[in-house]
Amino acid sequence: MKDGRFICLGIESSCDETAAAIVSDGRDILSNIISSQIEIHRVFGGVVPEIASRHHLTQINSVIETALEEANIGFEDVDLVGVTKGPGLVGAILIGLATAKGLAFTLAKPLVGVHHIKGHIFAAMLQDKTLKPPFLSLIVSGGHTDLIDVRTPQDMELLGHTRDDAAGEAFDKVARVLGLDYPGGPEIDRLAGEGDPRAVHFKRVMLEEGSLDFSFSGIKTGVLNHHNNERQAGRDVCIPDIAASFQEAVIDVLAEKTRIALKKTGHRVLTMGGGVAANKGLRDRMVKVCEDEDVRLILPHPGLCTDNAAMIACAATLDYRAGIEDWLDMDANAVIPLG
Ligand code: KG4
Ligand code: ZN
Repeated sequence: MKDGRFICLGIESSCDETAAAIVSDGRDILSNIISSQIEIHRVFGGVVPEIASRHHLTQINSVIETALEEANIGFEDVDLVGVTKGPGLVGAILIGLATAKGLAFTLAKPLVGVHHIKGHIFAAMLQDKTLKPPFLSLIVSGGHTDLIDVRTPQDMELLGHTRDDAAGEAFDKVARVLGLDYPGGPEIDRLAGEGDPRAVHFKRVMLEEGSLDFSFSGIKTGVLNHHNNERQAGRDVCIPDIAASFQEAVIDVLAEKTRIALKKTGHRVLTMGGGVAANKGLRDRMVKVCEDEDVRLILPHPGLCTDNAAMIACAATLDYRAGIEDWLDMDANAVIPLG
């Protein structure tokens, strides 16, 4: 406790960001520190799991110390340790998990393991302090594309998910085809602003009527074929036009499925999360969808959409208050069902 406030230390290490945050009363971010490995993995064109684990190990202690310093608190003020338990890269998660267990044991404080996607969902509660379930959540990250009916923090239903590539994965793979840097999402986002979204038509895969599932692997092949055909025909390839057209196709599908999910569930609030939710075109489109549907939209700022530990501290506090606690035998998992 610090000044009568409940203090959670959150730790996140499921992919290529080593992160620690201090969140008070589950809502107020006192610090949110992220050490990104993007530059290290860029030369490989993607995250190398073994290298990610090693860097988490070298960074994690200093990231936690900085989080405490910036929040102006000491270990003795921490009431709860929250940590990502999966899904993600197991070797990477284990670094955060082992550190969290060591701290919880030494400080004699409770420990809560958090589903990474649950963190992304509840990042919206850090953005809007009045937000409470029920709401519909669209999570679009490097590994997930999920539409979730959030009834309470402990009662959530997955309404739709990707059957192949996640939205972020499609951005990253298409960026590679276009010769752009890793991670491709922010690069395509930037270039799309300079291109014509109607220049090339890529198929919008909607699957069966009424389905809330997604499929993005076809569009990646569509971009690859278009790019190769144009080059073989000796025509100039306009990368910003392809980026804008690809992004528009992905956004069309995400927007339409979200609209169907809002109608199906009757929710009056939509939240978003995950790295792709930082995309400018997607954010603008969702503002429009929510205006049309008369739904309140909570968009976490881009830094709360991509991986961070404040969202983990927020979700851990919600679970702890609902009586959920983990033990030192908690395991890391590459795949865990949500809910
Ligand atoms: O949520 P996140 O930080 O990590 C995972 O849990 O996967 O999401 C990372 C993904 C990457 O695929 C990255 O290319 C994508 O989010 N991304 C974006 C943008 N910023 C990050 N995609 C589109 N536009 C962006 N501005
Ligand atoms: Zn994530």
